[in-house]
Amino acid sequence: MPTTTAATSAAAPPAPDSQERITAEITAAHAATAPGAAQPRIDFPPYRSSALRHPTKDPRHADPEGIELVAPVFGHSDIDPVEADLTIQHGGEPIGERMLLTGRVLDGDGRPVRHQLVEIWQANAGGRYIHKRDQHPAPIDPNFTGVGRCLTDGDGTYRFTTIKPGPYPWRNHVNAWRPAHIHFSLFGTEFTQRLITQMYFPGDPLFALDPIYQSITDRPARERLVASYDHDLTTHEWATGYRWDIVLTGTHATPLERAEHE
Ligand SMILES: [Fe+2]
Repeated sequence: MPTTTAATSAAAPPAPDSQERITAEITAAHAATAPGAAQPRIDFPPYRSSALRHPTKDPRHADPEGIELVAPVFGHSDIDPVEADLTIQHGGEPIGERMLLTGRVLDGDGRPVRHQLVEIWQANAGGRYIHKRDQHPAPIDPNFTGVGRCLTDGDGTYRFTTIKPGPYPWRNHVNAWRPAHIHFSLFGTEFTQRLITQMYFPGDPLFALDPIYQSITDRPARERLVASYDHDLTTHEWATGYRWDIVLTGTHATPLERAEHE
């Protein structure tokens, strides 16, 4: 009956977008953006959920000293050195490619940012997070939680031992897969200086297809999120090595997220 047909039609969800459409939108968005935009576009249409997640009003300015009165604090004694090794947090060895990850945190003048908290979180080798919202059919590794933290040393250097994460699917569009990545959070000298970003691995075939990575419209800026394979850091019969520096300010600053990302 016509009434039933109309009701069914109104209730049908819209067809999911294709990769072809997302890729075309990425290309168009890049073409419409002036070169040199080093930070992610927070309202990047191919990244569908950014439409509702990005702020639409100017940020409310707060007094950093006032926030310090109620913000979490930590001291050197709160960070155990074993927290920098994500492969020893359980009773057995996690599955996957063991890797060493190191780099320096620098300010815009190349000076080391010393004794700063660096936190990472990531999927396991199968691309699975231990999180109730991650229900895609890849195995949870009982020996891998995917969370670590450390302090930079006097040279601004951080060091982690972990497992190389796998790519994982997400629901932005049909056949959407995130390039393998590790999430980073850095605390500065004040709580309001917290910076969040993602580190990627060289040569990932998913880069061109990923609207989160491509929300940084400037190619050199995007490439600053990609670690380098370091054969001198690679350890015989133990682990591969990757190196990634983080620059907090200036023209070569590491692109940083201003909203929660997948
Ligand atoms: Fe992620």
